[in-house]
Amino acid sequence: MSEDQHVQPIGGHIQRQHQELQKLVRAIGHLFSHQPEGTSLGNFANEARHALAELRHHLAEHFTQEEDGGYLEEAVARVPRLGTCVAMLEKQHPELLAEIDRVIACAAVQPATAEQRQQIGADFARFARNLLRHEDIENRMLQEGFNDDLGMECDNPLAKDGT
Ligand SMILES: [Fe+2]
Ligand SMILES: [Fe+2]
Repeated sequence: MSEDQHVQPIGGHIQRQHQELQKLVRAIGHLFSHQPEGTSLGNFANEARHALAELRHHLAEHFTQEEDGGYLEEAVARVPRLGTCVAMLEKQHPELLAEIDRVIACAAVQPATAEQRQQIGADFARFARNLLRHEDIENRMLQEGFNDDLGMECDNPLAKDGT
């Protein structure tokens, strides 16, 4: 088996997980932006807590697989200038988990006022942006390290988007 044949399945697996996580994140975002009033509120709160717990579980597993799977290290071995990206990404894993834990802790408080629920939704939206940016950098690293030379700059990996 060539080196590429070994690495590509790892990258494909990670990218599939990114798509699944993105679906969960978008579903929760939709939930928060369509909050019901009155008697349906209890159901909404339960659904939100359940979905957040599910996302937290998958996220922790995903990060562990990324850290133990070796694809980040493999990308750096192939393209050494990606090393600063990997250090940044690995540092962000516990930060992202802490961020979703804060959202979960707030969502656990009962009963939440409309203002509190709005705040939780805003906090989740910020977490979602940070997570999607993190995953976007990883997807680019997979491309850069294993497929194409995108000229990715690690001190400002999203510079090509102007973001
Ligand atoms: Fe990651
Ligand atoms: Fe990831």
